[in-house]
Amino acid sequence: MVEITIPKPDDWHLHLRDGAMLEGVLPYSARHFARAIIMPNLMPPVVTGADAQAYRDRIMAALPKGMQFKPLMTLYLTEGTDAADVARAHTSGLVTAVKLYPAGATTNSNSGVRDLAKVMPVLEKMAEIGMPLCIHGEVADPSVDIFDREAVFIDTVLDPLRRTLPQLKMTLEHVTTSNGVDYVMAADANLAASITTHHLMINRNAILAGGIKPHYYCLPVAKRESHRLALRKAATSGDSRFFLGTDSAPHVDPLKECACGCAGIFTSINTLSCLAHVFEEDNALDRLEKFAGLNGPAWYGLPVNGETVTLIKRDQPVSFPSRIETGDGPVTVFDPRVPIHWEVV
Ligand code: DOR
Ligand code: ZN
Repeated sequence: MVEITIPKPDDWHLHLRDGAMLEGVLPYSARHFARAIIMPNLMPPVVTGADAQAYRDRIMAALPKGMQFKPLMTLYLTEGTDAADVARAHTSGLVTAVKLYPAGATTNSNSGVRDLAKVMPVLEKMAEIGMPLCIHGEVADPSVDIFDREAVFIDTVLDPLRRTLPQLKMTLEHVTTSNGVDYVMAADANLAASITTHHLMINRNAILAGGIKPHYYCLPVAKRESHRLALRKAATSGDSRFFLGTDSAPHVDPLKECACGCAGIFTSINTLSCLAHVFEEDNALDRLEKFAGLNGPAWYGLPVNGETVTLIKRDQPVSFPSRIETGDGPVTVFDPRVPIHWEVV
């Protein structure tokens, strides 16, 4: 039996939703994670400091008694966002970061940004006060192949923005390509990336080979195997610029299993077990704590969590529910497609 104890991880990219879904999924994150960066793509989105305060209150109200969890709030950047409101929300400690969704790139992104010039005053203010920008790094241009949208975003949006505002601290979220990994590694400062559990474990064959598998569909979509291997190398390297952001994104099964299924994979339940499997496979178990527990706090300027979690490797595979029930309906849990022997105890 092998055992590993690491500082309690944080999830640097999480969708908690609202209402009954929030109540259904929050306990799974709170069980394994001390804090999480909470995505603001609700309907309507979390745009102002007041929206973030109200959403934070709803999250805390949904937290089961006795559980500890700190939501790190984000604001959804729109072309109407008020720079002064953003700055107030950050300096008061209410909001950790701002989220940039290129309009049309993903779920509930229609209120996002079409023209970066319109949000430059907000970005300049953020650079001035040291507030990070979390980025969904894909162009939404329908003429760009969906498998190329991250690479094109890096060349046509991210790189120019970094040259214009080198002082702005940016997180390239859920990076899915070797292009993204290389770009982050080549940056001299102010750029880091989160990586999801599922992008470390699946490539695009999981979605498309042998029948279409909607529960492996997410955005950015999983790419070819060479990209997955680049992500594995970055995550398990210990490089402080790469850390865990699960992008756990629950949708009820009827909205995934239909003619136009939603993007999102729900991994909060088994993420840590899957990560231990991945890091062990790559002979990097000793670096799991960097990826899941140390690099993120360092990047966001927060203390490492005092609590710890322990994972034990069982002789028999650990079983996880294939779906959970929520007040909104069933949500399928990420199936890693290999036996997982690691259990959080
Ligand atoms: O797969 C995804 N699901 N990617 C996103 O960018 C959004 C998320 C969601 O909100 O469902
Ligand atoms: Zn997301």
